Amino acid sequence: MLDFLDHMDRFGWAVMLGCIGAEDSLRLRAECSLAYAAGGFRRAGVGRGENLRVREDIRRDEVMWLQTEVESIEQMAYLAKLELLRLALNQRFFLGLFSFEGHFAIYPEGAFYKAHLDRHAGTSDRLVTTILYLNDDWQPGDGGELKLWTVAGDQVGVFVLIEPRLGTLVSFIAADHWHEVLPAVKPRMSITGWFLQR
Ligand code: OGA
Ligand code: MN
Repeated sequence: MLDFLDHMDRFGWAVMLGCIGAEDSLRLRAECSLAYAAGGFRRAGVGRGENLRVREDIRRDEVMWLQTEVESIEQMAYLAKLELLRLALNQRFFLGLFSFEGHFAIYPEGAFYKAHLDRHAGTSDRLVTTILYLNDDWQPGDGGELKLWTVAGDQVGVFVLIEPRLGTLVSFIAADHWHEVLPAVKPRMSITGWFLQR
């Protein structure tokens, strides 16, 4: 956790391998695929509220928002971990993060999400993005890497490619870092969410 916070401090983004153990991560993955098979997911949109639109040219993932009333033990464990992260971020950076909203996401074969920032027009409540990947046995060639531009505000030049491996957590300052999901060759699952400020 300290390395992670140090990295956030210096660069505004950080990666934690094995944030959630394999057993819990696999259960989350199973939960995600079951809910998907049961029709619980919706095509993800771009924008918010009245401006929400499905835009297949921009993103092709499908999502299901987490609901605390029906959460599983493994979801509770992950949310508990995020709660520790929230408190640590607040303590270290005085961010005033007060809650979390998140969803399961599936990128079916061929799905992508073009370069974007995680801020809706005219809003500033999403401060930190966190993504947990749920892809066991991910191999180079499976696609779906997260391309994250490392210089704040800059969508050209330096970037890192983060492999969406089971149990990997990535965080970044939502307003600063352009990012893109490269086309998934195999179905790709994750839990994506945001720490909110008031
Ligand atoms: C998002 C997003 C990235 C990823 O849902 O806004 O950028 O790696 N996801 O899943
Ligand atoms: Mn995003």
